[in-house]
Amino acid sequence: MEQQNININVAKREKDNKDLRVKVEARDLDLWYSDNHALRNINMDIYEKKITSFIGASGCGKSTFLRCLNRMNDLISDVTIKGKISVDGHNIYAPGVDEVAVRKKIGMVFQQPNPFPKSIYENVAYAPLMHDIVKKGSDCDELVENSLKGAGLWEEVKDKLKEPGTALSGGQQQRLCIARTIAVKPDIILMDEPTSALDPISTQTIESLMLSLKEQFTIIVVTHNMQQATRVADYTAFFHLGEIIEYNETEQIFINPQVSKTEQYITGQFG
Ligand SMILES: Nc1ncnc2c1ncn2[C@@H]1O[C@H](COP(=O)(O)OP(=O)(O)OP(=O)(O)O)[C@@H](O)[C@H]1O
Ligand SMILES: [Mg+2]
Repeated sequence: MEQQNININVAKREKDNKDLRVKVEARDLDLWYSDNHALRNINMDIYEKKITSFIGASGCGKSTFLRCLNRMNDLISDVTIKGKISVDGHNIYAPGVDEVAVRKKIGMVFQQPNPFPKSIYENVAYAPLMHDIVKKGSDCDELVENSLKGAGLWEEVKDKLKEPGTALSGGQQQRLCIARTIAVKPDIILMDEPTSALDPISTQTIESLMLSLKEQFTIIVVTHNMQQATRVADYTAFFHLGEIIEYNETEQIFINPQVSKTEQYITGQFG
């Protein structure tokens, strides 16, 4: 099968390159929403501290697979999932695994910036306090400051931490959501079209931020913006009708696609 050959190609390069480590392994993953078979036989290795993008036409399963990676689909009724996803070698779907702990390790940033209706400070401090990562006081202040710095927002908000997060611009709100995500010290950050609601300048800011965040985190991003995939992603997976049709280094996907469907998609013939 084409798909498996391509996975093996990527895996072979991984063996040749000592810097690459597999962070997430999806094996024989299928998902149904009631009787809608939305993901089919997904097999994929995702590399640590790299950016991997998911591309493909609307409805092909990108968000569904992304949500499988931190068990967010568990929150949707009538979902059936078969197969396995391992993070650092541990199956996150094994019996007894705590989904809340999974979601702490694997954070998510959504398309629409969605700060809590709380202050900028509380947006960042809320989850670390809840998870007992810090106590109120100077440790918490420091974590809030470092997370806002990490998200490239500190200089813009340091004098108004008590103001509501929702009063910021869209691009600032998205960086606040990124600060909130990194504050719980996840390993992996999932981003579902994180810039599609933003203007070009904010998009550029988020893209540069992603490139700096990958030094610390494994990032997986869904995007409809081909230029964005080529600018930020080390690896790209092309989804079509619930399957991964092709997965490779981003440059190979865009310059030298091996499957005609991929070529049709990236040259705008459908989608
Ligand atoms: N919460 C849900 N309940 C039922 N079906 C869903 C749900 N979310 C997605 N689906 C279905 O699963 C399939 C894949 O949808 P998904 O949202 O993963 O696609 P996508 O690739 O992210 O599309 P888009 O680019 O439009 O965001 C579609 O047929 C969709 O209708
Ligand atoms: Mg989607």
